[in-house]
Parts: sequence; structure tokens; C-alpha cells
Amino acid sequence: MVQASSWIVIFPFLISKLHARLRIEYVVAVEGTVRSRPQGAANTNLKTGSVEIIADKVEVLNPVTLNLPFLVTPLDQSKNVISEEVRLRYRHLDLRRPQLNANLRLRHRIVKLMRRYLEDVHGFVEVETPILSRSTPEGARDYLVPSRVQPATFYALPQSPQLFKQMLMVSGFDRYFQFARCFRDEDLRADRQPEFTQLDMELAFTPLEDMLELNEDLIRLVFREIKGVELPDPFPRLTYAEAMSKYGSDKPDTRFGMQLVELSDVFEKSSFAPFATAISEGGVVKAITVCGGGKSITATRLKKGDIYQEAVRCGAKGLPFLKVAEGGEVEGSTALKSSLSCPETRDNFLAKCDAKPGDVIIFANGPTSLVNATLGRLRTLIAETSENLIDKSRNDILWITDFPMFEWNDAEKRLEALHHPFTAPRPEDMKDLSSARALAYDMVYNGVEIGGGSLRIHRRDVQQKVLEASGLSAQEAEDKFGYLLEALELGAPPHGGIAYGVDRLVMLLAGEKSIRDVIAFPKTTAAHCSLTRTPSTVDPRQLQELRLQCTIAHP
Ligand SMILES: *[C@@H]1O[C@H](CO)[C@@H](O)[C@H](O)[C@H]1NC(C)=O
Repeated sequence: MVQASSWIVIFPFLISKLHARLRIEYVVAVEGTVRSRPQGAANTNLKTGSVEIIADKVEVLNPVTLNLPFLVTPLDQSKNVISEEVRLRYRHLDLRRPQLNANLRLRHRIVKLMRRYLEDVHGFVEVETPILSRSTPEGARDYLVPSRVQPATFYALPQSPQLFKQMLMVSGFDRYFQFARCFRDEDLRADRQPEFTQLDMELAFTPLEDMLELNEDLIRLVFREIKGVELPDPFPRLTYAEAMSKYGSDKPDTRFGMQLVELSDVFEKSSFAPFATAISEGGVVKAITVCGGGKSITATRLKKGDIYQEAVRCGAKGLPFLKVAEGGEVEGSTALKSSLSCPETRDNFLAKCDAKPGDVIIFANGPTSLVNATLGRLRTLIAETSENLIDKSRNDILWITDFPMFEWNDAEKRLEALHHPFTAPRPEDMKDLSSARALAYDMVYNGVEIGGGSLRIHRRDVQQKVLEASGLSAQEAEDKFGYLLEALELGAPPHGGIAYGVDRLVMLLAGEKSIRDVIAFPKTTAAHCSLTRTPSTVDPRQLQELRLQCTIAHP
């Protein structure tokens, strides 16, 4: 029994005889004899093109009675571009396409590999944690589920199984994993989904080095089996500080250079006022050199186009730049150019930037975090819009380590945990938590974060200090995380873990551009399921039972 689309071409003679009855996408049962097709008649474009069936009996099990919204052809072969809205509305048909079908099968293989490795090689135990859990308003917005039994109270769908897996460590499951569904009610920018899958794991009594080694082995295995790529052993590492200073990003794409160069000493006494001011105010001047950028990095892009816009979005006040002409002269705004009129200064500057004729140098000046972030984003933008900058054949994987424990949240005027407040600080940094580094690590592949984790705090006194540092009073800490603090006093082993974004990892391994292409039933960017038309209004009686009232009517 087959879907007509996958077989129809192998018995064309039969189709011509029965074509009145058999149509594309019909479900049919064919009984007969399979035989090789005559020499020269094989269709090499088809996997089954060398055989045909001499049919004795053909039965239509189910005809297609509606108009097909689109042909189930490979995506790149379909003549009409079908909007994603339509594809998602008819997701069952879309998934029948070879490409999406293969993506889901690939996903299955990856999950199976990971599961086999963790269970069979390392004795991990999969434990399910609750989907109805407690709201933790710190992170992203929670999805709430009203309780009918206890009116006016709510469950929240988990954003991650973090605290449950820590509880499991206290319970003695020293190697836990789970393919966990996680939920975040965010305004969906770009490629996010309100629900996503995480490979979540946690280990007790495992030092940092062992943790990284086990995870490198896991990811090496996946890349070897799925992509035939041998990743380095061990993975290279960069500290957060190195990554920010060289690449302006904590998930740097290291497949190309264009590193950020610090130029504060060149411009300390510069006649170019914006630079001199930035430095005298404690900031920096840094730059990136776009090798051979003279052609593609046009003045329009730098003065008002995409590059300028991106810099402004990052908070830059302007976007100084220079072009290096033949003979090593610099071209650009008069003020900036004349600040480099001394040949010695200019040569020193060009040497630092490693710039040669035909290159473009783009600057940022101001507070260091702003400068790093701006140039980091421009570096990525320029690489993505250039044809040959990124070597697509490379598979660059690395760890970013030593994240700061906290980030300053200027809006709320408080320190905010960079990962989450259960991350352990480096013991030698305990004296001043505000600047402490964390025992945290992210795995970055070709500029995309695919996993992240940390060793956790396993002592109550440390946990309390860290919660305090992030602005929680002792009472608030007790109210929100009392059960964790209690557990840490009841024999909690040292532990730590990691979580991988499975959707994203599969997307990268499948070579897709969107995680929607590796999720069976994804939501649209408006968090809507077009197939089931969810979310939807509900029967007023359901609301009554929950003692809930909508303050606006559905349009
Ligand atoms: C930015 O880069 C500088 C080096 O140029 C480095 O010292 C600093 O730590 C970085 N800071 C941030 C917050 O990115």
C-alpha cells in the first residue's frame, strides 16, 4: 500500500490504462509481480526507477477528493512558490515532501544516537519531570495553566527542567537525561518557537573537565555518524573575555578572521574628537578590517545602509570608517583622515589593523561593552552578506568558558544572573560576586550556540549569597526557592549539567535555515498552529469552571 506520488512513475503503462481512476496522491493497493524494467527504460532519476510492477489487481483504497493545495514535490522542484502559511496549514501534506520527511527521520536518528550513547555507554537514566510546574517570573514569560481545583492559582509550563534535575541529583540519580519539552511565551522574533526540545542532562560528582570531555565525545559521535565529519579532540576553548574582546560575541563564528583590533593607544591623543573623548571617558576605540572590502562595502552601506543601521541598532552614535587606497593612503572623512596625517602614526595604525590597499576599516568608539557588541554584530552582518568570507566547508566547534556570573541590568538597576542563579561561581572569585566568573560553558558551532551548562551551586550558604547578589531578599529567596535551599541542606552532591537545543542542532545538521523545517508541527512566528488553528477561544463554561473571565472579546 503506497501513496501514489512515490510510485506512480514506475508503472506508466498502468497509469495510462487506469488514469481515469488513479490520480496523484491517491492511496492504492497494487498486487502483481515486480520485475526489472527493460534495458534502457529505467528511470535513473527515481530510487525505484529500475523496477516496475505488472499489476494483476489495482484497488483504490482512498481517493483524493479535495483540491490539492499544492503538489507534493521536492521543495526546490515545485514551480510555484507556496507560502509558508499554506504549507503550515496543510502540514500533513508538506511533511510528505521528501525533504521534510528526511529532516524528521534525521532528527530521529540524531535523538536515537544521543540516547544510545548516554544510556548504553554512560549509564544515564531518563527521568520525566513535570510539565505542570511552578512559575518563575525571572526569565522569559511563562505559559500559565489555571488550576480548576484551587481557583486563582496557576501552574506554569516549564522553561527548563533545571530545578527538577537538581532535585534528582539530591535523590541519587547521578546521571540523568531527558529529551525535555520547554516553553517560553516570548514575542517571537526570527527563528524561535514557543515550545522547543532540549536534551537536558545532569551529573553528580563530575568535575568540569570530565563534563566537557563526555559532551565532546557525544557531539563528536553525532557529527561523525550524521555528517561524516571528525570534530577536533579536544574542542578548542575561548574564555568569555577573549571571545568578547576578539569577536565581540559570546558565540563567535571562527570560520573567518576579521577580529576586533584595539586602537586606543593610536587614538589616545588624536585630533579626531570622538575617539579622544571616548578614550578619556574610560572607553575604547576598536576596529575591524574588511579584507578587500573596497568593492562590496560601499559608502552608502556605511553612511546610511544596512551596516550603518545595524551599528545604530547596537547603540553606536556614528560609524567612522576608512578605506585604504593604493599606496597606503587612507580615504574617509576629512577629520578622521587628518588625524592620521603623520606617516608614522598611519603606518602603525595600518599595521595594527593588518590592513592593505583595497581594505575597509570600520571603527566603533565608546564604552567597551558597546564597542565589542557593535563590532561583533557588524562582523557577522558583513560576513553574512559577503560571498566568500565564510568558508562553508568548515565545522568550527568550541567551548566558551568563564562567563561572568552577573550582568548589570540597567533598566532594573540590579545584577542579573547571566545563565541562571544556580550556576556555581569560580571558588577563587567568591570574594566579590559582582565580578565573579562562573563555572559555565557554552558549546558554539559555526557561530551558533548549540548547548550550554554549568556546574551548579550545591551548598546552601553559597546559593543564598548568589540569590542575594541578584537582588532577592532572604524572604524572597525562601518564598521562591525554599525547596531548593532545603534540598541543598539534605545531602546535595556536587553536580552540574548541560542542555542542548535539539531543534537547532538538527537544523544545523540537516543544513536547514529554519528550525520550523525540523519540527513536525511548528508554530508560526505569531505562535499560531495553522493546522489545528490554535490558540482558540474556549467554551464559556470552561472559563466559568476555572473562575476566569476574559476582559476583551475575541475579535
Ligand atoms: C571588550 O573588549 C576589551 C578588549 O578590547 C576587553 O578588555 C573587555 O573585557 C571586553 N568587554 C566586554 C564587556 O565585552
